[in-house]
Amino acid sequence: MANPDRLPADCPTAFYTFDVRVLSQRVAYLRSRLPENCSLCYAVKANPFIAGEIADRVDAFEICSPGEAAVCRALGIKSEKTVISGVYKTPSFIEGLIADADFRGVLTVESTTQYRLFCDLAEKYGRQIRVLLRLTNDSQFGINEDEIDEIVSSSEKTPLVRVVGIQFFSGTQKFSVKKIAREIGALDAFLARLEEEYGFAPEVLEYGPGFPVSYFEGEDFDEEEYLAEFSRIVGGMRYRKKITLELGRSVAASCGKYYTHIVDIKKNKETDYVLVDGGMHHLVYFGQAMAMKRPRVSVVGKDGEPEGTKRTVCGSLCSMNDIIVKQLPLPDVRIGDVLCFENAGAYCMTEGIALFLSRDVPAVYLIREDGTAVCVRKPFETLQLNTPNYDL
Ligand SMILES: Cc1ncc(COP(=O)(O)O)c(C=O)c1O
Repeated sequence: MANPDRLPADCPTAFYTFDVRVLSQRVAYLRSRLPENCSLCYAVKANPFIAGEIADRVDAFEICSPGEAAVCRALGIKSEKTVISGVYKTPSFIEGLIADADFRGVLTVESTTQYRLFCDLAEKYGRQIRVLLRLTNDSQFGINEDEIDEIVSSSEKTPLVRVVGIQFFSGTQKFSVKKIAREIGALDAFLARLEEEYGFAPEVLEYGPGFPVSYFEGEDFDEEEYLAEFSRIVGGMRYRKKITLELGRSVAASCGKYYTHIVDIKKNKETDYVLVDGGMHHLVYFGQAMAMKRPRVSVVGKDGEPEGTKRTVCGSLCSMNDIIVKQLPLPDVRIGDVLCFENAGAYCMTEGIALFLSRDVPAVYLIREDGTAVCVRKPFETLQLNTPNYDL
């Protein structure tokens, strides 16, 4: 166990911390602001490291790859809590699940080919499986309304494949609650039509609302009002049964911090630069428009010190794009000081371009409820992944 206050001094590389207490409070907050018929499904892709910490606090886990499934198994997450999602489902992985008499998860249907595969495998192993039909949002994901019509209207032909509901996700970081209202309105009408035309009454609507996170200074986002409006929209639906909200960013972001050390300070022409040992391959907020905006960042141990020179903070990749913040007013900083970026709990450690430049992958610490820090991933080199092996 390490003392979290000492981590910046003890840890020689960039690292993340994910605070379990903040995470639990966040889940409790979301639950308290959502309507009664809404349950929570955590999208593991946002941050696999915290999935085990909320195993008893959320109702389900959305899993998008064999790797994510293995992580969840290793964390002891029960299969009945899993939603096996993802546009490409590796056939051998799906066969393994359907063949497994202990598997109790639900599978999403992303294409008619996938649906046929599920039907064939259910038949082959004589197992009843549960599926959600993913409605497309005009992208490569999901299937069309008429294909959903076709499946639900002929469901008696495939009794082993039980359609339990509809899944819909159209994007992340949705600040516009009006957009959500339009989506929910359309989904509600679609569900009503399925019931009228085919007598199909789904047990669940699995919906990814893409709740946003306010990452940058100066953003005007009233989350209380946003969630209240969301609840009003849900309350106005004709569909009254269970809605499972698939959420990643909104659950995970606030529990994470990313720490990176200042390794050089210089002035090129008119610009004052601070170079850090991390960079954009570790810190991915949204859309990588970060250099233009100011994330919530502080210098460890220098809270309250007066702001001095405005400096442009750059990472250590050989890319002119590796600018983390432009013109950030910082106190008097030195080489060795550590910058701490807030809201780094979602996607940062999974979406970063970890292999670029063969740099090391940062360590991960979980900050437990009692405040102690546990290292759950040591930093590791990526050079072996970029070195050709002529002995294969
Ligand atoms: C199907 C699906 N559901 C849920 C999510 C989570 O989205 P967010 O992190 O915006 O909550 C994603 C993210 O890509 C997704 O693809």
